[in-house]
Amino acid sequence: MNLVRPEIDAMPDSPILEVWRSGISVPGIIALWAGEPDRPTPGFICEPAIEALRAGKTFYTHNRGIPPLREALQRYHKRIYGLDIADNRIAITSSGMNAVEILCQALLGAGSKAVAISPSWPNILRAMTINGAHVIEVALHRSNSGWSLDLEAVERACADGVKMLYVASPANPTGWTISREEAQALLKLTRDRGIALVSDEVYHRIVYDRPVAFSFLEIAEPKDNVFVINSFSKSWAMTGWRMGWTIFPPYFAPTAEKLIQFNTSGGQEFLQYGAIAALDQGEEFIAEFVARCRAGREIVSRRLAKMPRVREIHSNGSFYSMFEVEGVTDTLAFCKTAAQEARIGMAPGLAFGAGAETLIRLCYAKSAENLETAMDRLEGFLSEGRRF
Ligand SMILES: Cc1ncc(COP(=O)(O)O)c(C=O)c1O
Repeated sequence: MNLVRPEIDAMPDSPILEVWRSGISVPGIIALWAGEPDRPTPGFICEPAIEALRAGKTFYTHNRGIPPLREALQRYHKRIYGLDIADNRIAITSSGMNAVEILCQALLGAGSKAVAISPSWPNILRAMTINGAHVIEVALHRSNSGWSLDLEAVERACADGVKMLYVASPANPTGWTISREEAQALLKLTRDRGIALVSDEVYHRIVYDRPVAFSFLEIAEPKDNVFVINSFSKSWAMTGWRMGWTIFPPYFAPTAEKLIQFNTSGGQEFLQYGAIAALDQGEEFIAEFVARCRAGREIVSRRLAKMPRVREIHSNGSFYSMFEVEGVTDTLAFCKTAAQEARIGMAPGLAFGAGAETLIRLCYAKSAENLETAMDRLEGFLSEGRRF
């Protein structure tokens, strides 16, 4: 007898995982399906964590993270945004995803509604559903010049019963970045209607037209119901560390402590020493990493532009390319077949919800050599002219 809650049982698996399963054992596959760099975490971050482990930093910690890491986050916010963030607004979480989960637990609940600007990373919407919410997606508008926000559609969606508005900028998978004016409009909307604004800024350093993306922290008052999610994963090549942070209004600190206690009971002490080094000494690494992503982006755009039937949707942030292929509507079948036959791993657009159904995503935070080979393989696969 299946005792799983029906709504969890009914929840579809991530289509990215479906492609992964069909391609992971294909010899020599070039995997561009996941959102992570192909380089390990740099030594200047690993060494302090190893030293801390050797020095016996292996105990339970403060639920909001060790004080020196929270202080490092304060220095980081001061340096990159010029902002003073009070200590009672910061919590270290066991990944950005863990921050998402905690915010959904605290702010949603059975019978609630959440609005998400889509296309978006599927895990976010699943966390909302797990926490009882009905999710309303508002798709970005897609045109030849890229993605844009339909503010009126967001306003219409944020009706009675909506507890949370989720926005990611730079976004996964689209790379769309919000403007200050659009952010001001969303802040006003959520203030007026008493809605929590959850701003996912995990790609804040992966931008190509400025050193750091715009943050809601730059316009919000500390008391505003603005909850920022961030992560060490993307900017510092630390996906496997499972470390993130969240910034919230001061009243939320005891809630964050409680929910961290009842979810993970706190992060790993020794890892937090590595994260301090990432924040304090990471600028050179980030500059190099963004330059590498920029080069990867140029390779992919140049090659896709020459492929018949392909149209790429341009953007200015994150490390993904999204494109459509004329004659491909079933992106899951397309990606599974490309993984098995052409040995290139990509993510199907249908994974990312409204607005991405017919698109394909690939991650270009990879070596030039791998990207050129992946593009050769894609070109060969497309030249067969198959429709999906
Ligand atoms: C938009 C977005 N938010 C949050 C996360 C979570 O990052 P992590 O759990 O690795 O810190 C991801 C990861 O891909 C993401 O793309």
